[in-house]
Amino acid sequence: MKLQNIFDKNKEWVQSKLDIDEDYFKNLSKGQSPEILYIGCSDSRVTAEELMGVSPGDAFVHRNIANMVPNTDLSAMSVIDYALTHLKVKHVVVCGHYYCGGVKAAMQSADLGILNPWLRNIRDVYRIHRDELNAIENEDERYNRLVELNVQEQCVNVIKTSQYQKAFADRQVVVHGWVFDIHSGKLIDLKIDFEDKLKDIQEIYRIS
Ligand code: CO
Repeated sequence: MKLQNIFDKNKEWVQSKLDIDEDYFKNLSKGQSPEILYIGCSDSRVTAEELMGVSPGDAFVHRNIANMVPNTDLSAMSVIDYALTHLKVKHVVVCGHYYCGGVKAAMQSADLGILNPWLRNIRDVYRIHRDELNAIENEDERYNRLVELNVQEQCVNVIKTSQYQKAFADRQVVVHGWVFDIHSGKLIDLKIDFEDKLKDIQEIYRIS
């Protein structure tokens, strides 16, 4: 890939937007009021806006290795705070994907240096759901299930935050767990019952 091509493509993209609406960028510069906070994986194959078919301004996006929401990660926590408290998004999406290298790495016993503490969060998910996962004999199926359970646990991590608990009390912000299937291109809604999860975890994590 030649980097100059990127600038050429950018020029074409700017023109294509202006052809439809000459004020497109003028309006874009006025501010943002996205309805969705999307938390996804950094994987180059799993785009955020493109796979959802949304435009600039529609989604506030946070991506990291394996779409994690670690409780002490300043970056993820700041994004959640800004999206819920200031942008007042209506939906929080955690989107994982099958064939996730981060999840795969957490299923193996290799020492990956600085990645160890990050992947340990996924190993924690495995430990919590060890019985279910160990009962799956097929390794690919076990891997896919861990991807889904990791999404579920990261949704729980969103629900644990004071920002989310306040946003739910104020305006019933919804949390969604999705998986992108790279093999088919389809987005799958895991239909996580977040209200049930909220009730369940508030026994321990209630803030207020
Ligand atoms: Co991934």
